[in-house]
Amino acid sequence: MNLSVSDIFKIPIDKHSDVKNIILKGFVRSHRQTGKINFIQLSDGSTIKKIQIVYEGELSKLDYMSTIIVKGTLVKSPAKQQDYELVADEIQCVGDCNPEKYPLPRKYLTLPYLRQFPHLRMRCETISSILRIRHKMIIAVHNFFNKQDFLNIHTPLITGSDCEGAGETFKVTSSPNFFPRDAYLTVSGQLEGEMAATALGKIYTFGPTFRAEKSDTSRHLAEFWMIEPEMCWYDLDDTIKLAMELLKYCVKKCKKWCKNELEFLKVNLGDEMNFEIITYEQAIDILNKAESVSFKEVKWGDDLSSEMEKYLCEKHYKMPLVIKNYPKEIKSFYMKQSDDGMTVNCFDLLLPGIGEVIGGSEREIRMDKLLAEMKLRNMDITKYEKYIDLRRFGNVPHAGFGLGFERLIRYLTGIEHIRDVIPFPVYFGHL
Ligand code: 4AD
Ligand code: MG
Repeated sequence: MNLSVSDIFKIPIDKHSDVKNIILKGFVRSHRQTGKINFIQLSDGSTIKKIQIVYEGELSKLDYMSTIIVKGTLVKSPAKQQDYELVADEIQCVGDCNPEKYPLPRKYLTLPYLRQFPHLRMRCETISSILRIRHKMIIAVHNFFNKQDFLNIHTPLITGSDCEGAGETFKVTSSPNFFPRDAYLTVSGQLEGEMAATALGKIYTFGPTFRAEKSDTSRHLAEFWMIEPEMCWYDLDDTIKLAMELLKYCVKKCKKWCKNELEFLKVNLGDEMNFEIITYEQAIDILNKAESVSFKEVKWGDDLSSEMEKYLCEKHYKMPLVIKNYPKEIKSFYMKQSDDGMTVNCFDLLLPGIGEVIGGSEREIRMDKLLAEMKLRNMDITKYEKYIDLRRFGNVPHAGFGLGFERLIRYLTGIEHIRDVIPFPVYFGHL
């Protein structure tokens, strides 16, 4: 009977009594010999847990990370450290692993060191724990939206428009020209998300996005995953509420589903997740009054630097923080303008230790205001005709946000660098 290590741990302890003819396949995590008895710790990636293999007989030394097939009987372990062990009748080495050459020996290795070996680092417990949490959070996100009748929409990765208008796009080229006009990798699925929402009510996208930002930081990737819900009839408050609920749900499920991984990573996600909500204006006020640090020169209209966000979220409020109603000029063209035309009905959500995780807004659906704003920003309106059509035919108020998935995973795992929470990081200067 072929079983995985996780299968073994699913067998109730009182029911397993001496299950025979078990076949396990996996990696040797350690091998020690005491007289004629061999003790092997085996893992196969199916769980963070390892199973002890006991084998009586001659066995040549099995190196760390060599692969073996074991046949034997599952028994209750006489030792305290584990509930089960597998008493092996037969052990076959399939692939050895030369310890002189293997770059990831069994000792403490730093995450920056591991980054040099994207093809091997997933075998380490830290990275594999992060990836297990990542998987569970993908499921959590889909569950959250599915329960509330949102439709998951796939938006194109190759597109003709730049949603954020920041010009940080990767151009897609081909020879001869495949498309009739310039094509880019998407920086956000929002514009297409709006098209879907204004037909289907409530939708969300969950896909890769690409940004050619030359930001060599622990917060930026060139290829990252974003979750973008878009909802008809939602106003700013509804949207902020949805964002907070989504985060609370992910934290709750992470604590429930990923106990072992969180324990391994030494992360305590606390009890309740609470948020403070302030306006941009209040933020500027607080920064101006900050005593220990000098942000005195910051004035209304300035963008908030990551240091300022850090101060507000970690030093001043010491909790997750929503900042809303930013000045129009420092935000995107599609955001709904307030009545005085100074601010937009938008928000950023910051988490302690991470900074901005979510950005969202009500969308501008008044044709005159939208067009004027696009002109002001020198945008090529002909590229956005379909987007503008949404305002021509059955116009409907709507709103949405974008959650940076890797930043969420950083928060949940306590991992400092964004390059360590995605299996194969793509970032400035690195492929
Ligand atoms: O704030 P952003 O740029 O918002 C948008 O793209 C909107 N179109 C979203 C929407 O309303 N549908 O990006 C949203 C989030 C950020 O808050 C951040 O978490 C993440 O995406 N993000 C990045 N994550 C990793 N690397 C980067 N280079 C990122 N840029 C943004
Ligand atoms: Mg943003």
